[in-house]
Amino acid sequence: MNAGHEVIDRIAELGRHSESPDHYTRTYLTPAHQAAANQIAQWMREAGMSVRVDAIGSVIGRYEGSTEQTLLMGSHFDSVRNGGKYDGVLGILVPIACVAELHRRGERLPVAIEIAAFADEEGARFQTSFLASRAMVGRLEAAVLERRDGDGVTLADAMRSAGLDPAKVAPSRIDPSKLAAYLEVHIEQGPVLLNAGRPLGVVTSIAAGNRHLLKVIGEAGHAGTVPMAIRRDALTAAAEMVLAIEKRCSAGGSLVGTVGVLRVKDGTGNVIPGEVEFTVDIRAADGETQAAGARDALAACDAIAKRRGVKLERTMTHEVQAVPCAPWLQDEIARSIERQGIEAMRLPSGAGHDAMVLAEFTDAGMMFVRCGAGGVSHNPAETVSVEDAGLAVAALLDFLRHFRQDAPPRR
Ligand code: GLV
Ligand code: MN
Ligand code: MN
Repeated sequence: MNAGHEVIDRIAELGRHSESPDHYTRTYLTPAHQAAANQIAQWMREAGMSVRVDAIGSVIGRYEGSTEQTLLMGSHFDSVRNGGKYDGVLGILVPIACVAELHRRGERLPVAIEIAAFADEEGARFQTSFLASRAMVGRLEAAVLERRDGDGVTLADAMRSAGLDPAKVAPSRIDPSKLAAYLEVHIEQGPVLLNAGRPLGVVTSIAAGNRHLLKVIGEAGHAGTVPMAIRRDALTAAAEMVLAIEKRCSAGGSLVGTVGVLRVKDGTGNVIPGEVEFTVDIRAADGETQAAGARDALAACDAIAKRRGVKLERTMTHEVQAVPCAPWLQDEIARSIERQGIEAMRLPSGAGHDAMVLAEFTDAGMMFVRCGAGGVSHNPAETVSVEDAGLAVAALLDFLRHFRQDAPPRR
């Protein structure tokens, strides 16, 4: 079967492992998530790989090479709620298709290939980010294991119920000195390649960002009896804050700001909201722009809280610096794309990726695949064509066949 068809068919098949038959949601360690892990492990074995599951639940396939040095590839198989089926899994299934082809032909490379299907990147269940890649490199703080999901289950308990031992996370980190590089294939999640008419692209850098949880505490009261002038309504205060964040982050350039979750505690139609929690996600291509945007937006929220007589508590839940992709990997990826007869377009990534975590330990590179449907992602309409998936397999296979573990410059 044509490799592009196989990848797209498998994405559809994996998409059936969802927490709901009506939409695609697959969060960490739910039954749907575990079924997807089993399916991925089976495809890895069929591609000639040995498979292990690490302490956090990531599925890792290995195809031996002629040295111990390892080229790690991968992406995540969890999803956002009601997301798109290509985000993450494309970067698992394209490499599996390449290894399957090497295996069919009996080809071995100078490096071993590992494919990591990361169990959790989006963090939709426990409000974590890069949980699995951070665990892999020993960068997971123990406190994260005590985070609770919407039903009050701790991350550690969810792991135990799934047969994983939280105590093994720290000792089971990999030895990064064996890594030759990390490469991630990902759907672009934006319209740049689509508008330029290019199926594949080379990522130059990944945007800086941070996330915050804001809790507004006002005073609950009777919707019919408390005069407007003396209310301390937590929701109207939060609404003004959301708009202030939008205004500051609309200043232009790469700065973007999003409030994606807003919860009214004990929300009831005839009660003035007493407490509201919401998330804030602020990103930009460079650290200075991001930091200035976040500082100003949060200061505006503080000022609104003061003026309205409500209390504002804020906690930063996630922070990443902008990550440049290794120039030599960018060049190698570009050459492989060009050998398919395609002009290799270079573009930055506004979305976060596991590559950001791995880049702390080894040189990291990313190949983007064109996003259809206007470039929409984190949305059920997200799509990649069979042709583009086939080109991604061809370009990655070419990259693997040209990859030399002594390529410059090793850390
Ligand atoms: C991951 O999808 C992110 O960029 O938030
Ligand atoms: Mn995503
Ligand atoms: Mn992703």
